[in-house]
Amino acid sequence: MAGMTSTPQKTDRLGYLDALGIDVWRLRGSGGSADASDPEQADVSLAGWDEIRAAVSGCRKCALHKTRTQTVFGVGSETAEWMIVGEAPGAEEDRRGEPFVGRAGQLLDEMLRAVGLDRRTVFIANVLKCRPPENRDPEADESSQCRAYLDRQIELLNPKLILVVGRIAAQLLLNTDTSLGRLRGQAHKIGTAEIPAVVTYHPAYLLRSPSQKGKAWQDLCLARSIARRH
Ligand code: URA
Repeated sequence: MAGMTSTPQKTDRLGYLDALGIDVWRLRGSGGSADASDPEQADVSLAGWDEIRAAVSGCRKCALHKTRTQTVFGVGSETAEWMIVGEAPGAEEDRRGEPFVGRAGQLLDEMLRAVGLDRRTVFIANVLKCRPPENRDPEADESSQCRAYLDRQIELLNPKLILVVGRIAAQLLLNTDTSLGRLRGQAHKIGTAEIPAVVTYHPAYLLRSPSQKGKAWQDLCLARSIARRH
């Protein structure tokens, strides 16, 4: 067609953005296009699943990269209606590269099964993609550096519901210091898409305090009813 340039046909998403002159991997503050092999600098706000996976696996934004065995990106369906968000990988997760595979993970699987779901049909991720040594709580710089990955995972997935497990994940995700007891029992809204989020107990806590399982069941029922409405 007259007036059209002879730019080669770009079929993939990155190629499309490239054709529009948009650099997905842009160095912060530099204005120039960045090297995708430098995950320390990568801006993942426009990244697709493969790009964000690559950025996470090479991430050295905080000191946790020095002590991890491997990163733990998340697992499940990229078209899942439910997303589960926990705190950070533990020892078993760090070894296997998959979230919630230890004892707490087995209980999480049971909780999901109780509402007719399983780990292959939901998407499970953590706020932190690397294990903090000795399973200590995340430090502020670790959670803030890692946040862009989770935010982009949420955006790409655009789930009907986010189930947040545990006080720390809930406080980090919702940016609050309100207690878990007060965060339960309501639908919070996450991001500009206002994705509903329900907060419940961490399965590791439920293993130590089984008398709280009834409350966790209430939370799951609330989450299920919200997901069905969306
Ligand atoms: N606890 C979490 O919060 N996440 C995991 O992946 C494992 C245990």
